[in-house]
Amino acid sequence: MNFQALLASKTDDKTSTALVDFDEADLMPGDVTVAIDYSTVNYKDALAVSGRAPVIRHYPLIPGIDFAGTVQASSHAGFAVGDRVVANGWGLSQTHHGGFAQRARVNGDWLVQLPDVFSTRDAMAIGTAGYTAMLSVLALEHAQVMPDSGDVLVTGAGGGAGSIAIALLSRLGYRVVASTGRLAETDYLRQLGAAEVIDRRTLSEPGVPIARERWAGAIDSVGSHTLANVLAQTRYRGAVAAFGLAQGTDLPASVLPFILRNVTLAGIDSVNAPQPLRLQAWARLASALDLDKLASATSVVALADVPRIADQVLQGQVRGRVVVDVNA
Ligand SMILES: NC(=O)c1ccc[n+]([C@@H]2O[C@H](COP(=O)([O-])OP(=O)(O)OC[C@H]3O[C@@H](n4cnc5c(N)ncnc54)[C@H](OP(=O)(O)O)[C@@H]3O)[C@@H](O)[C@H]2O)c1
Repeated sequence: MNFQALLASKTDDKTSTALVDFDEADLMPGDVTVAIDYSTVNYKDALAVSGRAPVIRHYPLIPGIDFAGTVQASSHAGFAVGDRVVANGWGLSQTHHGGFAQRARVNGDWLVQLPDVFSTRDAMAIGTAGYTAMLSVLALEHAQVMPDSGDVLVTGAGGGAGSIAIALLSRLGYRVVASTGRLAETDYLRQLGAAEVIDRRTLSEPGVPIARERWAGAIDSVGSHTLANVLAQTRYRGAVAAFGLAQGTDLPASVLPFILRNVTLAGIDSVNAPQPLRLQAWARLASALDLDKLASATSVVALADVPRIADQVLQGQVRGRVVVDVNA
């Protein structure tokens, strides 16, 4: 049986994508086949589709690091036909065909049963960005940064992970300060739950190794000088959850925040996170995420729109989350 897929190919070092009729028999091995309802465009998807970073390890490959849908066939003990499932990361879009398609066949160990409160569309409005935001909140809680500890900063606030981090933190009772390059989006960020919005330029230039204490905690999508400045401004025994590289992969920081202020820098990886942590994150998303706020941060596009959206993501023009309806 054939289905529609976005296929990435490479010829003479040039990456291209095309919407193709893909034969289900050509999917890679796996013990669960999923009829996909929705996927989504994250920053990493934009890198993969544009070919700007070597996310895809071998071509041709269907990109898309996330999908949500219904199990169509399974020989895995944990999943039965009809189960609603979500997949984030693992080998998707790197070594294994991903979510920009109407079908996927994967190792069932990569799947999570979708909590009842979420539709498959909600699951992709969350996607890797939202699940990573939840992993970051869990890391702050693990470091004992609680709502009464003080202000929590979210950088890259207008992006997908940043938007959902704000919604989650504010629902949990934290006072959230949002850092953005798009001050015109201040109303949007306040509606998500930000108590205060600051200009990202106050954080993005080279700074001092240690500065006035401002943040009980922070969730950082940005890296580089921004992360260095956030660390320098983090309060005694505070914590920073870092997962992003939107400004850069470098970290021009000093050890002073760690050795003088006992600051914790918690690294967050969503791709290979162990299954118990994923289950915890999805369960907490089910209880802590306001679905109206999620909807306000989400737009929906078709499979054919993905390359255009990927360009917009790389130019920092996309607000919040973009869901891909693969059957539109
Ligand atoms: N470690 C992991 O497992 C993991 C998981 C998910 C995402 N990530 C990474 O986390 C980052 C965010 O992902 P996302 O999907 O939320 O991406 P996104 O929707 O594109 O958001 C990124 C945001 O970062 C800000 N930004 C962009 N360029 C910047 C620059 N030069 N300097 C400072 N800020 C800048 C922008 O926010 P404003 O316009 O509001 O300033 C932008 O909206 C990406 O780097 C992604 O690769 C990592």
